[in-house]
Amino acid sequence: MPLVCLTDFEAHAREQLSKSTWDFIEGGADDCLTRDDNIAAFKKIRLRPRYLKDVSKVDMRTTIQGEEISTPICIAPTGFHCLAWPDGEMSTARAAQAAGICYITSTYASCSLEDIVATAPGGLRWFQLYVHPNRQLNKQLIQKVESLGFKALVITVDAPKIGNRRHNITNQVNLMKNLLLKDLGSPEKGNLMPYLQMSPIDSSICWDDLSWFQSITRLPIILKGILTKEDAELAVKHNVHGIIVSNHGGRQLDEVPASIDALTEVVAAVKGKIEVYLDGGIRTGNDVLKALALGAKCVFLGRPILWGLAYKAAGRLLRSVGT
Ligand code: FNR
Repeated sequence: MPLVCLTDFEAHAREQLSKSTWDFIEGGADDCLTRDDNIAAFKKIRLRPRYLKDVSKVDMRTTIQGEEISTPICIAPTGFHCLAWPDGEMSTARAAQAAGICYITSTYASCSLEDIVATAPGGLRWFQLYVHPNRQLNKQLIQKVESLGFKALVITVDAPKIGNRRHNITNQVNLMKNLLLKDLGSPEKGNLMPYLQMSPIDSSICWDDLSWFQSITRLPIILKGILTKEDAELAVKHNVHGIIVSNHGGRQLDEVPASIDALTEVVAAVKGKIEVYLDGGIRTGNDVLKALALGAKCVFLGRPILWGLAYKAAGRLLRSVGT
Protein backbone atom coordinates (compact mmCIF):
# COMPACT_ATOMS: atom_id res chain seq x y z
CA MET A 1 0.00 0.00 0.00
CA PRO A 2 1.43 3.44 -0.84
CA LEU A 3 2.39 5.62 2.11
CA VAL A 4 0.68 8.97 1.60
CA CYS A 5 1.23 10.94 4.79
CA LEU A 6 3.65 11.01 7.70
CA THR A 7 1.25 9.02 9.88
CA ASP A 8 1.61 6.18 7.36
CA PHE A 9 5.42 6.43 7.57
CA GLU A 10 5.13 6.38 11.35
CA ALA A 11 3.03 3.20 11.31
CA HIS A 12 5.41 1.61 8.82
CA ALA A 13 8.45 2.49 10.92
CA ARG A 14 6.82 0.97 13.99
CA GLU A 15 6.53 -2.34 12.13
CA GLN A 16 10.13 -2.19 10.89
CA LEU A 17 12.02 -1.21 14.00
CA SER A 18 12.79 -3.19 17.15
CA LYS A 19 10.68 -2.28 20.17
CA SER A 20 13.58 -0.63 21.99
CA THR A 21 14.52 1.48 18.94
CA TRP A 22 10.89 2.45 18.40
CA ASP A 23 10.52 3.41 22.05
CA PHE A 24 13.77 5.40 21.92
CA ILE A 25 12.56 7.41 18.93
CA GLU A 26 8.96 7.96 20.01
CA GLY A 27 9.57 8.39 23.71
CA GLY A 28 8.91 11.58 25.63
CA ALA A 29 9.73 12.63 29.16
CA ASP A 30 7.65 11.55 32.14
CA ASP A 31 3.94 11.36 31.15
CA CYS A 32 4.65 12.51 27.55
CA LEU A 33 2.12 15.33 27.97
CA THR A 34 4.23 17.88 26.10
CA ARG A 35 5.13 15.41 23.36
CA ASP A 36 1.43 14.78 22.69
CA ASP A 37 0.53 18.47 23.10
CA ASN A 38 2.97 19.34 20.30
CA ILE A 39 0.65 17.51 17.90
CA ALA A 40 -2.68 18.39 19.51
CA ALA A 41 -1.94 22.13 19.69
CA PHE A 42 -1.54 22.34 15.91
CA LYS A 43 -4.91 20.67 15.44
CA LYS A 44 -6.67 23.37 17.49
CA ILE A 45 -5.59 26.12 15.09
CA ARG A 46 -7.83 26.91 12.13
CA LEU A 47 -6.80 28.62 8.90
CA ARG A 48 -8.35 31.85 7.55
CA PRO A 49 -8.04 31.29 3.83
CA ARG A 50 -7.87 34.25 1.46
CA TYR A 51 -8.75 33.59 -2.17
CA LEU A 52 -8.44 35.19 -5.60
CA LYS A 53 -4.68 35.24 -5.43
CA ASP A 54 -2.58 33.90 -8.30
CA VAL A 55 -1.21 30.57 -7.05
CA SER A 56 -0.63 29.02 -10.46
CA LYS A 57 3.08 29.11 -9.72
CA VAL A 58 4.29 28.46 -6.20
CA ASP A 59 7.84 29.18 -5.16
CA MET A 60 8.63 28.04 -1.65
CA ARG A 61 12.27 29.04 -1.62
CA THR A 62 13.45 31.11 1.30
CA THR A 63 16.66 31.84 3.17
CA ILE A 64 17.88 30.95 6.64
CA GLN A 65 20.92 32.80 7.96
CA GLY A 66 21.40 34.12 4.45
CA GLU A 67 21.51 30.68 2.79
CA GLU A 68 18.84 29.64 0.29
CA ILE A 69 16.71 26.55 0.90
CA SER A 70 14.15 25.13 -1.53
CA THR A 71 11.37 25.07 1.04
CA PRO A 72 11.04 26.13 4.69
CA ILE A 73 11.03 22.52 5.94
CA CYS A 74 14.37 21.26 7.23
CA ILE A 75 15.85 18.49 9.37
CA ALA A 76 16.16 18.83 13.17
CA PRO A 77 19.13 17.26 14.92
CA THR A 78 18.41 13.73 16.11
CA GLY A 79 21.02 11.26 17.28
CA PHE A 80 21.90 7.74 16.17
CA HIS A 81 20.40 7.54 12.67
CA CYS A 82 22.11 4.17 12.23
CA LEU A 83 19.43 2.74 14.50
CA ALA A 84 16.88 3.37 11.74
CA TRP A 85 18.97 2.54 8.67
CA PRO A 86 22.55 1.26 8.43
CA ASP A 87 23.76 4.18 6.35
CA GLY A 88 22.42 6.50 9.06
CA GLU A 89 23.30 10.18 8.81
CA MET A 90 24.92 9.68 5.40
CA SER A 91 21.50 8.84 3.94
CA THR A 92 19.98 11.80 5.75
CA ALA A 93 22.64 14.15 4.37
CA ARG A 94 22.13 12.92 0.80
CA ALA A 95 18.35 13.31 1.09
CA ALA A 96 18.72 16.83 2.48
CA GLN A 97 21.10 17.78 -0.31
CA ALA A 98 18.74 16.35 -2.96
CA ALA A 99 15.81 18.25 -1.42
CA GLY A 100 17.80 21.49 -1.14
CA ILE A 101 17.16 21.87 2.57
CA CYS A 102 19.24 22.32 5.72
CA TYR A 103 20.26 19.32 7.82
CA ILE A 104 21.26 20.00 11.42
CA THR A 105 23.71 17.26 12.32
CA SER A 106 23.58 16.15 15.96
CA THR A 107 26.53 15.85 18.34
CA TYR A 108 25.16 12.31 18.71
CA ALA A 109 25.48 11.42 15.02
CA SER A 110 26.37 7.78 14.54
CA CYS A 111 28.41 8.44 11.35
CA SER A 112 31.58 10.53 11.41
CA LEU A 113 31.30 14.19 10.44
CA GLU A 114 33.82 13.62 7.66
CA ASP A 115 31.68 10.84 6.13
CA ILE A 116 28.53 12.94 6.40
CA VAL A 117 30.17 15.84 4.59
CA ALA A 118 31.88 13.64 1.99
CA THR A 119 28.65 11.92 0.99
CA ALA A 120 26.75 15.19 0.38
CA PRO A 121 29.39 17.88 -0.09
CA GLY A 122 26.97 20.41 -1.60
CA GLY A 123 24.34 20.26 1.14
CA LEU A 124 23.58 23.03 3.62
CA ARG A 125 24.57 21.80 7.07
CA TRP A 126 24.37 23.26 10.55
CA PHE A 127 25.95 21.55 13.56
CA GLN A 128 24.11 20.98 16.84
CA LEU A 129 26.28 21.11 19.94
CA TYR A 130 25.68 19.56 23.32
CA VAL A 131 28.17 21.55 25.34
CA HIS A 132 30.90 19.40 26.85
CA PRO A 133 32.26 20.28 30.31
CA ASN A 134 35.77 20.57 28.85
CA ARG A 135 35.97 23.91 27.04
CA GLN A 136 38.94 22.88 24.90
CA LEU A 137 37.05 19.90 23.49
CA ASN A 138 34.17 22.19 22.51
CA LYS A 139 36.67 24.49 20.85
CA GLN A 140 38.29 21.67 18.88
CA LEU A 141 34.93 20.37 17.74
CA ILE A 142 33.64 23.81 16.73
CA GLN A 143 36.82 24.50 14.76
CA LYS A 144 36.43 21.15 13.08
CA VAL A 145 32.82 21.72 12.01
CA GLU A 146 33.76 25.18 10.80
CA SER A 147 36.55 23.75 8.64
CA LEU A 148 34.20 21.03 7.34
CA GLY A 149 31.86 23.72 5.97
CA PHE A 150 29.02 23.67 8.50
CA LYS A 151 27.30 27.05 8.28
CA ALA A 152 25.89 27.58 11.78
CA LEU A 153 26.33 26.37 15.34
CA VAL A 154 23.11 25.29 17.04
CA ILE A 155 23.54 25.13 20.80
CA THR A 156 20.88 23.03 22.50
CA VAL A 157 19.93 24.77 25.74
CA ASP A 158 17.10 22.59 27.02
CA ALA A 159 19.18 19.57 28.03
CA PRO A 160 21.32 20.51 31.04
CA LYS A 161 20.16 17.13 32.32
CA ILE A 162 18.74 14.36 30.16
CA GLY A 163 14.95 14.06 30.41
CA ASN A 164 13.33 11.24 32.32
CA ARG A 165 12.32 8.88 29.51
CA ARG A 166 10.62 5.95 31.15
CA HIS A 167 10.62 3.64 28.12
CA ASN A 168 14.37 3.86 27.87
CA ILE A 169 14.73 2.90 31.49
CA THR A 170 12.31 0.00 31.09
CA ASN A 171 14.09 -1.19 27.94
CA GLN A 172 17.47 -0.49 29.48
CA VAL A 173 18.49 1.27 26.29
CA ASN A 174 22.16 1.88 26.62
CA LEU A 175 23.00 3.64 23.41
CA MET A 176 26.50 4.45 24.45
CA LYS A 177 27.29 0.81 25.04
CA ASN A 178 25.47 -0.56 22.01
CA LEU A 179 26.59 1.95 19.45
CA LEU A 180 29.66 3.71 20.51
CA LEU A 181 31.88 1.71 22.80
CA LYS A 182 33.07 -0.36 19.89
CA ASP A 183 34.99 2.57 18.48
CA LEU A 184 35.43 4.74 21.50
CA GLY A 185 37.95 7.36 20.58
CA SER A 186 39.86 9.82 22.67
CA PRO A 187 40.62 13.46 21.96
CA GLU A 188 44.31 12.62 21.77
CA LYS A 189 43.68 10.28 18.85
CA GLY A 190 41.86 13.04 17.03
CA ASN A 191 38.56 11.17 17.08
CA LEU A 192 36.47 13.53 19.13
CA MET A 193 32.88 12.56 18.48
CA PRO A 194 32.60 9.22 20.29
CA TYR A 195 34.47 10.73 23.23
CA LEU A 196 32.03 13.64 23.41
CA GLN A 197 29.09 11.30 23.11
CA MET A 198 30.30 9.30 26.10
CA SER A 199 30.56 12.40 28.28
CA PRO A 200 27.94 14.26 30.28
CA ILE A 201 26.51 17.51 28.97
CA ASP A 202 27.78 20.61 30.79
CA SER A 203 24.92 21.55 33.10
CA SER A 204 26.59 24.74 34.30
CA ILE A 205 26.25 26.72 31.04
CA CYS A 206 24.68 30.18 31.54
CA TRP A 207 23.92 33.22 29.37
CA ASP A 208 27.29 34.79 30.12
CA ASP A 209 29.09 31.76 28.65
CA LEU A 210 27.77 32.58 25.18
CA SER A 211 30.42 35.26 24.70
CA TRP A 212 33.10 32.57 24.94
CA PHE A 213 31.51 30.64 22.08
CA GLN A 214 31.21 33.86 20.09
CA SER A 215 34.91 34.53 20.67
CA ILE A 216 36.03 31.21 19.18
CA THR A 217 33.83 30.96 16.07
CA ARG A 218 32.69 33.07 13.16
CA LEU A 219 29.64 30.82 12.71
CA PRO A 220 26.24 32.28 13.53
CA ILE A 221 25.01 30.89 16.85
CA ILE A 222 21.46 29.64 17.15
CA LEU A 223 19.86 28.62 20.45
CA LYS A 224 17.63 25.55 20.31
CA GLY A 225 15.03 25.04 23.02
CA ILE A 226 13.81 28.56 23.83
CA LEU A 227 10.15 28.66 24.93
CA THR A 228 9.57 32.01 26.64
CA LYS A 229 9.65 35.71 25.82
CA GLU A 230 12.08 36.31 28.68
CA ASP A 231 14.67 33.95 27.24
CA ALA A 232 14.00 35.23 23.72
CA GLU A 233 14.81 38.77 24.88
CA LEU A 234 17.99 37.51 26.54
CA ALA A 235 18.95 35.71 23.34
CA VAL A 236 18.68 38.98 21.39
CA LYS A 237 20.59 40.82 24.11
CA HIS A 238 23.40 38.27 23.88
CA ASN A 239 23.68 38.73 20.12
CA VAL A 240 22.77 35.25 18.99
CA HIS A 241 21.64 34.95 15.38
CA GLY A 242 18.55 32.80 15.73
CA ILE A 243 16.24 30.82 17.98
CA ILE A 244 14.64 27.43 17.47
CA VAL A 245 11.45 27.38 19.50
CA SER A 246 11.46 23.78 20.68
CA ASN A 247 10.75 21.55 23.63
CA HIS A 248 12.99 18.78 22.26
CA GLY A 249 9.97 16.88 20.95
CA GLY A 250 8.69 16.61 24.53
CA ARG A 251 11.73 14.55 25.54
CA GLN A 252 13.18 16.94 28.11
CA LEU A 253 11.02 18.84 30.59
CA ASP A 254 7.45 17.52 30.51
CA GLU A 255 4.49 19.90 30.99
CA VAL A 256 6.10 22.82 29.19
CA PRO A 257 4.08 24.44 26.38
CA ALA A 258 3.66 22.91 22.96
CA SER A 259 6.14 24.52 20.57
CA ILE A 260 3.46 26.11 18.42
CA ASP A 261 1.85 27.64 21.54
CA ALA A 262 5.19 29.20 22.59
CA LEU A 263 5.97 30.57 19.14
CA THR A 264 3.82 33.70 19.26
CA GLU A 265 5.40 35.16 22.42
CA VAL A 266 8.91 34.43 21.19
CA VAL A 267 8.26 36.04 17.81
CA ALA A 268 6.77 39.11 19.50
CA ALA A 269 9.74 39.39 21.90
CA VAL A 270 12.47 39.32 19.25
CA LYS A 271 10.74 42.08 17.21
CA GLY A 272 12.22 40.84 13.93
CA LYS A 273 15.81 41.31 15.12
CA ILE A 274 16.77 37.65 14.65
CA GLU A 275 15.27 34.70 12.80
CA VAL A 276 12.91 32.40 14.70
CA TYR A 277 12.41 28.77 13.70
CA LEU A 278 10.26 26.00 15.21
CA ASP A 279 10.33 22.27 15.70
CA GLY A 280 7.97 19.87 17.46
CA GLY A 281 4.85 18.17 16.15
CA ILE A 282 5.08 19.17 12.50
CA ARG A 283 3.30 16.37 10.65
CA THR A 284 1.41 17.97 7.75
CA GLY A 285 1.75 20.79 5.26
CA ASN A 286 -0.95 22.65 7.20
CA ASP A 287 1.22 22.47 10.33
CA VAL A 288 4.05 24.09 8.37
CA LEU A 289 1.71 26.80 7.14
CA LYS A 290 0.47 27.54 10.66
CA ALA A 291 4.01 27.87 12.01
CA LEU A 292 5.02 30.21 9.16
CA ALA A 293 1.84 32.26 9.58
CA LEU A 294 2.66 32.71 13.27
CA GLY A 295 6.13 34.00 12.47
CA ALA A 296 8.55 31.07 12.03
CA LYS A 297 11.02 31.52 9.18
CA CYS A 298 11.32 27.77 8.75
CA VAL A 299 10.39 24.55 10.56
CA PHE A 300 12.41 21.46 11.39
CA LEU A 301 11.32 17.82 11.53
CA GLY A 302 12.63 15.37 14.13
CA ARG A 303 10.99 11.95 14.36
CA PRO A 304 9.55 11.92 10.80
CA ILE A 305 13.09 11.88 9.40
CA LEU A 306 13.83 8.69 11.33
CA TRP A 307 10.59 7.15 10.08
CA GLY A 308 11.75 8.02 6.55
CA LEU A 309 15.09 6.35 7.16
CA ALA A 310 13.31 3.26 8.43
CA TYR A 311 11.41 3.20 5.13
CA LYS A 312 14.78 2.99 3.40
CA ALA A 313 13.78 5.70 1.00
CA ALA A 314 15.81 8.80 1.64
CA GLY A 315 14.38 11.61 -0.43
CA ARG A 316 10.73 10.59 -0.62
CA LEU A 317 9.86 11.73 2.87
CA LEU A 318 9.78 15.46 2.42
CA ARG A 319 7.44 15.29 -0.54
CA SER A 320 4.77 13.88 1.74
CA VAL A 321 4.66 17.01 3.89
CA GLY A 322 4.01 19.32 1.02
CA THR A 323 7.21 20.05 -0.85
C1 FNR B 1 15.95 14.31 19.32
N1 FNR B 1 16.22 15.67 19.53
C2 FNR B 1 17.52 16.08 19.65
N2 FNR B 1 17.79 17.40 19.81
C3 FNR B 1 19.08 17.84 19.88
O1 FNR B 1 19.31 19.05 20.02
N3 FNR B 1 20.11 16.94 19.78
C4 FNR B 1 19.92 15.61 19.61
O2 FNR B 1 20.87 14.83 19.50
C5 FNR B 1 18.57 15.15 19.59
N4 FNR B 1 18.31 13.82 19.45
C6 FNR B 1 17.02 13.39 19.30
C7 FNR B 1 16.78 12.02 19.08
C8 FNR B 1 15.48 11.58 18.85
C9 FNR B 1 15.23 10.13 18.58
C10 FNR B 1 14.41 12.51 18.85
C11 FNR B 1 12.99 12.08 18.58
C12 FNR B 1 14.64 13.85 19.09
C13 FNR B 1 15.11 16.66 19.48
C14 FNR B 1 14.85 17.10 18.03
O3 FNR B 1 15.93 17.91 17.57
C15 FNR B 1 13.58 17.93 17.88
O4 FNR B 1 13.60 18.98 18.82
C16 FNR B 1 12.29 17.13 18.04
O5 FNR B 1 12.43 15.81 17.59
C17 FNR B 1 11.18 17.81 17.27
O6 FNR B 1 9.96 17.19 17.47
P1 FNR B 1 9.30 16.13 16.44
O7 FNR B 1 9.46 16.67 15.03
O8 FNR B 1 10.01 14.85 16.66
O9 FNR B 1 7.88 16.09 16.88
